[in-house]
Amino acid sequence: TTYRVGYFVGSLSSTSINRLLSRALIRLAPEDLEFTEIPIGGLPLYSPDYDEDYPPEARALKDAIAASQAVLFVTPEYNRSIPGALKNAIDWASRPKGTNSFHHLPAAVIGASPGKIGTAVGQQSLRAVLSFCNARQMTAPEAYVTFTPGLVTADGEVTDPSVEAFLTAYMQEFRDHVVRVLTVLPRA
Ligand code: FNR
Repeated sequence: TTYRVGYFVGSLSSTSINRLLSRALIRLAPEDLEFTEIPIGGLPLYSPDYDEDYPPEARALKDAIAASQAVLFVTPEYNRSIPGALKNAIDWASRPKGTNSFHHLPAAVIGASPGKIGTAVGQQSLRAVLSFCNARQMTAPEAYVTFTPGLVTADGEVTDPSVEAFLTAYMQEFRDHVVRVLTVLPRA
């Protein structure tokens, strides 16, 4: 069996360290996890006016989440919170009312920042939002990555063995969490 994981990169930057981190996580993940990026950069700003008729980008977002058995958020912290582009995507996916895409969906959060606390505050903010959206979050382990230049190469190789071991363990735990949740809440 393989498990389909949709992942979000919370940065639109062409030089995103969180995108590099996502490549590293995919490399280090157990082989039974299959990853597909769920893009957020093309979404208009959400308004309830769209609820009657979602635009194609927003329908694609909801379809991509529906096709996933779990989601992984790899995101920077902006001003101690969630980057607006990512929050916008979550707001789209949570609506129209009664069709919240995150309901009972296995989820996990991770992020990198050049700063010492490695997105910890932003992740708390994201976790609060995902709780309200009723996602089945992995509560532990947490992963706050302080990104130093060269920590992850362009193709996702981690150059620090202790960080590599930590991220490998994190992805193993994520995999176990996903399997545990899907046992009680199966998703075709
Ligand atoms: C930041 N940055 C930042 N870093 C941090 O540790 N805590 C924070 O609250 C913020 N706030 C913040 C706001 C805005 C608008 C920007 C553009 C940046 C710095 C941030 O961690 C750094 O730019 C990372 O490189 C962002 O991740 P990506 O885009 O490279 O993945």
